[in-house]
Amino acid sequence: MHQRMFDVSWDAFSALPVAEKTPYLMQPDGAPFHTLFAQQFDVALLGRLAALSNAIRQIAKTRSGTLFLQDLICHKRAMIYFSQPSSRTFLSFLSACQILGVQTGEVRDMATSSEFKGESKEDSVRTFSSYFDMIIMRSPEKGLAERMAWALSNSDRPLPLINAGSGKDQHPTQALLDIYTLLRSFERNGGLRDRTVVFVGDLARGRTVRSLSLLLTQYPNIRQIFVAPQSLQIGEDIVQALEAKKVAFHLTDDFHASIPAADAIYMTRIQDEWDHDKGESAAVDISRFTFGADELKLLKPTGIIMHPLPRRSEIAVCVDSDPRAMYWRQMRNGMWIRAALIAETFGCGKRIHDYYSQNL
Ligand code: CP
Repeated sequence: MHQRMFDVSWDAFSALPVAEKTPYLMQPDGAPFHTLFAQQFDVALLGRLAALSNAIRQIAKTRSGTLFLQDLICHKRAMIYFSQPSSRTFLSFLSACQILGVQTGEVRDMATSSEFKGESKEDSVRTFSSYFDMIIMRSPEKGLAERMAWALSNSDRPLPLINAGSGKDQHPTQALLDIYTLLRSFERNGGLRDRTVVFVGDLARGRTVRSLSLLLTQYPNIRQIFVAPQSLQIGEDIVQALEAKKVAFHLTDDFHASIPAADAIYMTRIQDEWDHDKGESAAVDISRFTFGADELKLLKPTGIIMHPLPRRSEIAVCVDSDPRAMYWRQMRNGMWIRAALIAETFGCGKRIHDYYSQNL
């Protein structure tokens, strides 16, 4: 594992465009050191992570394979530091660490941390770096993961940090599992190219949508449709990013008209945890942005339904048994690709591939 020194101040670094930050985040072999932004992954690296995920999930099916994986980086420890609620991101990272034999610690309730006594985030992270070899963090604060990564890289304990969700801005590892799900869904059907992806719901505050939308721009001819009430439409910065990359896209509030063309429908819930005052979201009519039996009839036989989860009522439970409902498999894919990401970060991807080619 090798990290590049951050030879710029925090103010200078934070002002750089992501493309100029990326070289600071990557290792010489192309694996990530810090995982902060969806855009730091290119198609080659996404393919490499997907292939490694496939290998890990096959190897893990046997007892001998499980023991091999658990021995790989059992000398590493990861701190899972979540100051925002989570079920699947937390549990899938925990499971991914267990698959690879990585020991874990966790802080999920700030009332049990010395932050309750006024300790700064910087000092918290520095404390974790004394005991652990990796930090996996979720925070409601935009840019905090980036600031902590910069601080770590300029400390005497430079260790990798994975952003497991930051503010309304980025959720890069969700985008990894979403891309992995799309790659697997279309692998026998032409691959991830010449597709239409329809994003639905609360797009203004959806960090999963933002990260996936940015990653999809790297695949050929992926048209993106954003379906939302006007007040929850996708942000202007994403619109500008799509225009700059000459990606075909469309903003609308007409969900039913968008379904027949969709290869993938990406549903999201109303994220009222970001409301400035209670009841703001309740004033928005979301009844036209739900997926149920009527919408299933409009979807192509090869179309898939995704959702980062958790859901409320935007996907009816009757949809769960349709073979096109991908969200439970999507969630499980997260565990495998997060294991692959941790393995690549710690430099053991090749050993896993060697084992796979020799034993399976
Ligand atoms: N998709 C996702 O981030 O889910 P959790 O909030 O449960 O981790």
